Amino acid sequence: MIIAIDGPAGAGKSTVCKILANRLGFVYLDTGAMYRAVAWAVETGPMGCGKNGAPADLRLREVLLARELRFCVENDRLGIFWGEKRLTEELRTPEATEAASRISRLPEVRQFLVEWQRRLAREASGIVAEGRDTATVVFPDAELKVFLTADLKTRAKRRFDQYFEKGEKLCLEEIEALILARDAADSKRAHSPMRMAEDAVFLDTSGLSVQEVVDRLSQMAKRF
Ligand code: DC
Repeated sequence: MIIAIDGPAGAGKSTVCKILANRLGFVYLDTGAMYRAVAWAVETGPMGCGKNGAPADLRLREVLLARELRFCVENDRLGIFWGEKRLTEELRTPEATEAASRISRLPEVRQFLVEWQRRLAREASGIVAEGRDTATVVFPDAELKVFLTADLKTRAKRRFDQYFEKGEKLCLEEIEALILARDAADSKRAHSPMRMAEDAVFLDTSGLSVQEVVDRLSQMAKRF
């Protein structure tokens, strides 16, 4: 079974999808992390990427062809590697966030990652995929599709708390502006823009606790 959950930054997708996947015994596929990994490799990764002075489009070609970037499923989670190096926290910096939004516009990046996402899904009996196009493009035949969102203030506060926990102090207004810019970039790009699938369930998580959102999603999943 495939559950595809899309929505903008700060809607609470990652938190609830992890718990939902765990509850159902499904694989949790964080497709945003895959875009972040390509961005990291192009901007700051090894192999001279970002440091060898080559233009960004050449570095991107090198990254996509090098086969150093690998994705796998381990313990029902997505593992991301550059060669032997496991990528985790380096994908969560504000720089990686900005670069991921930028490179996710490029059709060659999307094609590369969509192939990986479908391959990973074939290996799993159940999967909870989250991103911007998982219900519209990657898994159009997903049994359950949900578009998760929340109002701007709620989303900004959630991001503020996440950054605060990591010791990064951004002000709320700054985060709101970054979120709005990212929403615009993600939903107005030409290739696979973020949009709600016609057959998706719309769920506004403003004012709902994590538990309440997970419960609602579990109820929806039980119908299948
Ligand atoms: O969900 P996230 O913040 O980790 O995503 C990082 C960026 O990747 C985001 O700006 C949009 C892009 N993305 C995408 O274009 N398609 C996806 N399926 C997932 C993420």
